[in-house]
Amino acid sequence: MNDLIDRLRTEHRSFHGRDPEIIAYAPGRVEILGNHTDYNEGFVLSAAIDAGIAFGLSPAEDDVCTLVAADLRESVQFQSIDPGRTDKERWSNYPRGVLTFLQERYDFRPKGFLGTLSGDIPMAAGLSSSAALEIASGLAFSAFHGISPEKIELAKIGQKAEHEFAGVRCGLLDQISSLFGREHALVFTDFRSLDVDTVSLPEGTGFMIANTEVKHTLVDSEYNERRQRCEQAAAAFARILGPRVNSLRDVAWADMLKYRDRLDPAVWKRAAHPVGENERVLAGVAALKRGETAAFGRLMFESHESSRTLFENSCPELDTLVEAARNISGVYGARLSGGGFGGSIVALIETGRAPAIAKALISAFASAYNRKISPRVVVPSAGARII
Ligand code: GLA
Repeated sequence: MNDLIDRLRTEHRSFHGRDPEIIAYAPGRVEILGNHTDYNEGFVLSAAIDAGIAFGLSPAEDDVCTLVAADLRESVQFQSIDPGRTDKERWSNYPRGVLTFLQERYDFRPKGFLGTLSGDIPMAAGLSSSAALEIASGLAFSAFHGISPEKIELAKIGQKAEHEFAGVRCGLLDQISSLFGREHALVFTDFRSLDVDTVSLPEGTGFMIANTEVKHTLVDSEYNERRQRCEQAAAAFARILGPRVNSLRDVAWADMLKYRDRLDPAVWKRAAHPVGENERVLAGVAALKRGETAAFGRLMFESHESSRTLFENSCPELDTLVEAARNISGVYGARLSGGGFGGSIVALIETGRAPAIAKALISAFASAYNRKISPRVVVPSAGARII
């Protein structure tokens, strides 16, 4: 992180001719267990990672906001009072949306600024670089305007920017993980109460991610479609079980089995995934608290199997890596992480064996696809902050 902050300072000076007065940093995240449960008011275990986005700001003389994406060598300008959205420099829609909704919620007079952003999260890897950008810009804009939103409020503003400026109806997982991360611990979130807790990782264990570099072009529409199916399933269960069902959080696995015949088979398959995931997350927290690393790993494999066969948000490249992981010694469990349809797998590993595990994953992937991947260890890290 220190290198990134130094780079941001240098870039800010070279673009704007002065030092940033405010620097905020927000990490990316990795989803460990609990897939597509957040918008169903369920449970997730996740972690903030040791890669993120830094956002620097200094005041401008007028109401114009000049924002530079240092890594892309692109810049945009917009009015502080009405940032609007753009179809050109799409990365700028996240900070534009965040500024718009922060202002709407806290009713301050937005000032012009000179801004710079830079990051070290691999792009399109399913590690939530967009949420990191929302949270880093949200923290920087808040400090710049002298407001102090609660973390949950900031997470909701980031989510709103994602819904309305980027068109993805995501849950709150990515923003909450970026804000509430803790070193060597998992973030455990209840997405109904929005209570956030942390669970320590067993000694000697860590995570490795391997990016397939598959970017499904329909990923946003597939995501929104899955969400809609889950909402339909919850409505169907409310008809069967009564109004106590508000979301799939209120449906147990036993209900899935008992009422299987009463649901459209296509809807059943989709709903079964988040319902099963919720139970796996609770079992996973209990396993971690008992120090049962192998049991936790098995839940990760089950989660992937459920994605592959029920939710159908995996892809052959992800499946190849998870299958390979089953036979690599030192791997406890592996699954796809995040929205799916491409991106990365995450594996829970014995840290001491990381180099051999990476080598085995590279070789399995190369023999299937004749392409080299670059697995890396990710370190559960502290959440977003002002530097
Ligand atoms: C994406 C979304 C999250 C969550 C995950 C799947 O990362 O942004 O809100 O739904 O997919 O668990």
